[in-house]
Amino acid sequence: MAQIDIDTSVEEASQAFLAAYAEHSCDHLVQARNAHLGKDAPLRTAQRQLGALAPEDRKQAGAQIQAGLAAITDAYSRVEALLDADDLAQRLSEEREDVTVPVVMNPVGALHPITALFHDMCDVFVAMGWEIAEGPEAEAEWLNFDALNFTPDHPARFMSDTLFLDPPEDHRILRTHTSPVQMRTLLTRDLPVYVVAPGKVYRADEMDATHLPVFHQIEGLAVDKGLGLADLKGTLDHLAKAMFGDEAVTRLRPHYFPFTEPSAEMDLKCFVCHGESVGNPARPCRTCRSEGWIEWGGCGVVNPRVLRAAGIDTDVYSGFAFGMGVDRTVMFRNNASDLRDFAEGDIRFSRQLVGEAR
Ligand code: DAH
Repeated sequence: MAQIDIDTSVEEASQAFLAAYAEHSCDHLVQARNAHLGKDAPLRTAQRQLGALAPEDRKQAGAQIQAGLAAITDAYSRVEALLDADDLAQRLSEEREDVTVPVVMNPVGALHPITALFHDMCDVFVAMGWEIAEGPEAEAEWLNFDALNFTPDHPARFMSDTLFLDPPEDHRILRTHTSPVQMRTLLTRDLPVYVVAPGKVYRADEMDATHLPVFHQIEGLAVDKGLGLADLKGTLDHLAKAMFGDEAVTRLRPHYFPFTEPSAEMDLKCFVCHGESVGNPARPCRTCRSEGWIEWGGCGVVNPRVLRAAGIDTDVYSGFAFGMGVDRTVMFRNNASDLRDFAEGDIRFSRQLVGEAR
């Protein structure tokens, strides 16, 4: 086999590969590879014919063919790499995102109105240096009732109000109010304490427009030296103004709670009619039902029995506490009339009351 034939084969193969590259055609490159490296390629045929040569020529011719095949393989690899690189560059430029094209935004969620109100109320207290406290929803009966000075026969404990958890001997319930967080706070934090505790509470109520078996409260507790009813009233009025505007005030009506003494129910002066709808049929008010005041929650001076149950010296420390329904607050704040809407999870309801996620 003549030297010239091998050089020509290598040359032809290289030309074919380069032609495929010039056309940017992977198909042509594969065809050229089959033609020049495949089993019918000229050098492969020559390889098969080596046996016909005289032994002294065979070795040299074999080595030349091998070198030729290696050169063709090398040329092929280089052209393939060039094509791959071009291909990648082209894809990168074609697929580049045009960040200036306007896009349709995925719809964002919305905070649930209860969550939004929790945030707003907690913000008011955090701004005064209060802390956020938490407790479990599955609570010890002792913390929910006994530690808060509920007598063993208090009606609130009865099955009709309280959801008891199995097994009965564990004395665990779904907390009926956020007040057990008061005792948890007193048992775990150093004095003085100023905390608010937002959370879910449970009662065995039938679901209707004004009752859900799961609802929400926010609890407040302050224990320090020399705290009393005036501090409670000032705190509640500050909260009312922060939430409902400068003209908002609260009023306290005597009431009974086992864990406060004295105790009161607190009303919020109607922030819509400011009381002007009372006895004035010409100007009825939907928010307060023309009563001038809206029932907001319970409060009082912490009963010394509660403080003593937590090992606190009541000659030195005293405190005040309050708790209010957050669902109710959203209802009169946003004029929502049916509590069941709160449990539906319809994002349109949340958007209407709160707006897009904040
Ligand atoms: N826990 C009471 C309830 O669910 C509300 C309440 C009353 C909370 C007086 C208090 C309080 O902290 O001092 O009806």
